[in-house]
Amino acid sequence: VIEDVRVRKILDSRGNPTLEVDVITWNGFGRAAAPSGASTGSREVVAFPEGGVDKIIGEVEDVISSELIGMDAEDLQDIDLVLKEIDGTENLSAIGGNTTVAVSMAVAKAAAASYNMPLYKFLGGSMRTEIPYPLGNMINGGAHAGKHAPDIQEFLVVPAGASNITEAVFANSNVHKKIKEFIQLKDKTFTGGKGDEGGWAPNLSNYDALEIQSKACEEVGDEMGIEIRPSLDMAASEMWDSSQEKYLYSQENIARDTAEQIEFVKEIIENYNMFYVEDPLHEGDFQGFSELTSKIGHKCLICGDDIFVTNKEILKEGIDAKAGNSIIIKPNQIGTLTDTYETVKLARENQYVPVVSHRSGETTDETIAHLAVAFSAPLIKTGALGGERIAKLNELIRIEEEVANPQMASLNK
Ligand code: PGA
Ligand code: ZN
Repeated sequence: VIEDVRVRKILDSRGNPTLEVDVITWNGFGRAAAPSGASTGSREVVAFPEGGVDKIIGEVEDVISSELIGMDAEDLQDIDLVLKEIDGTENLSAIGGNTTVAVSMAVAKAAAASYNMPLYKFLGGSMRTEIPYPLGNMINGGAHAGKHAPDIQEFLVVPAGASNITEAVFANSNVHKKIKEFIQLKDKTFTGGKGDEGGWAPNLSNYDALEIQSKACEEVGDEMGIEIRPSLDMAASEMWDSSQEKYLYSQENIARDTAEQIEFVKEIIENYNMFYVEDPLHEGDFQGFSELTSKIGHKCLICGDDIFVTNKEILKEGIDAKAGNSIIIKPNQIGTLTDTYETVKLARENQYVPVVSHRSGETTDETIAHLAVAFSAPLIKTGALGGERIAKLNELIRIEEEVANPQMASLNK
């Protein structure tokens, strides 16, 4: 039974305020913090109400605690409903999706703690424990880096051949190191600057970044004797100019219309043997997602982030349009754990691969590591390096150690 709910203002990795919630039950305790995006989808719930974290602490905290005190932390669905009722808006703009998600996650952790169980086990029931492969972030561009960095937002890698999480996270950090060497060979003035998600933020063209990424995957893959595959988050909504109806690549001074964008992405996927490409088209283009997916088939995961925003109803539209074959899962895009779970379930039922993900603004909260395991997500996207990124990766190492017969998730779902 919940005895208290407390909210405090803490720092996120960009130096912005975010909130952390403590939920105290008579025999448990849960703490969770909310992250923030920079390249957000337009149909996400609103992260903070007007007035920000201070308003939440000043006005909302008391309302939430008075409603939740006395409720059973195990009744997460009821609690999530109450949170949505307190807010009362469609997009959670009154109290903020970051408020509801932090409370929802802290409640789940308190419930797990009251059973003396780790969160992944509490939420995952009796399912076999599978550890997700980490999608590591190597080079940052777009909205996550300076204006001379590549237009493509994230150059990622998947250590697809790793046989356990430790090997996987060290493979990613080895590629990260190798990429720094390659960038320095290309640009003597590079001082090691990083973007918001801990990838390097170099002054490189998109093509040079692709070449460096792929060469580093090969070299480290050979050294370690495992397959490492390149991947991308193109965050194409950020490049899309709706007045010209074109994708603007400022590094090469090229504007591509939708057909050219699809052709361009298809070529990249084929030339570099991409494992995964996120948001290759802008968030309104279900048709373009569908065309690309049918051209690529099962060769590559075509993942929707800004287009689906972890929203079950929007994912339904995507399923009907056959747009993509994978979906990013960010709990704060939808606002509660219950709704997050519903979206994962719908994705699974329709063979969309769920990829549990951090945001560009993060804290050291490790909850998403547990969610990825609880949902048996084949992939988790949580960077490669940086304190707020390794918080999740190191938690996965602990989880793997703790379960009896740990297994990496299957990447061929
Ligand atoms: P965001 O970006 O957290 O800044 O929205 C991450 C992503 O696009 O995947
Ligand atoms: Zn994205």
